[in-house]
Amino acid sequence: MPDLEALKKEAAVRAVSLIESGMHLGLGTGSTAKYAIAELGRRVAAGELSGLSCVATSEASDAQARALGLDVGPLTRQFFDLAIDGADEITPDVDLIKGLGGALVREKLVEVQARRLIIIADHTKLVTRLGERAPLPIEVLRFGVDSTLERLQALGAVGELRRQAGELYLTDNGNFIYDARFAGADLAALERPLKGTLGVVETGLFLNMAERAFVAAPEGVREIVRSAASAAR
Ligand code: A5P
Repeated sequence: MPDLEALKKEAAVRAVSLIESGMHLGLGTGSTAKYAIAELGRRVAAGELSGLSCVATSEASDAQARALGLDVGPLTRQFFDLAIDGADEITPDVDLIKGLGGALVREKLVEVQARRLIIIADHTKLVTRLGERAPLPIEVLRFGVDSTLERLQALGAVGELRRQAGELYLTDNGNFIYDARFAGADLAALERPLKGTLGVVETGLFLNMAERAFVAAPEGVREIVRSAASAAR
């Protein structure tokens, strides 16, 4: 059994090697992104990097980055030179499902403004098609949630509101997450109707956004780059 934590760290270190002094950075969320933030903090403390400014995609990443002495600020209109984040599923075109860590809305808000979105993961996240393993997290407003779920179910969703320690899970934005499966449907084709559903804040589909993924496996780190054809879709 490979040590997944060591693999996540390896992928994270590889992505952080792309960072240069003076960059404006988007910091991801989750157990893999945590390694990237730690490595960033280490490199700044070692004097290898300076003049960085960062925006975090969750309260947890914000707290971790600040504790390491990184300069973390609010999201403005400034584009990011680089954003580094984990993912729950990664296709060969580097399309993603994200949000099992609950930060999908802030992740999307930050990462659409990134000139380069770099994904880091261990090899268990690779899939041939989205929805193969992970449910699709959908952030929904609490107000009127029963009606929102009924609308989602009319689109074919089968799922449940996420719970944590027995309680309904709340995102950093104070919303619920509905973890949905769509029985073999083409999730990319569902993106528009899902986003057009009253009560839906955002979905965990990250399509045509990532430039590349560093995916660590026991035999080494594989780099999966979005092809020109998929970038032009
Ligand atoms: C956070 O909301 C997610 O999008 C994470 O990026 C994703 O869940 C990957 O997390 P891990 O690195 O912990 O698997």
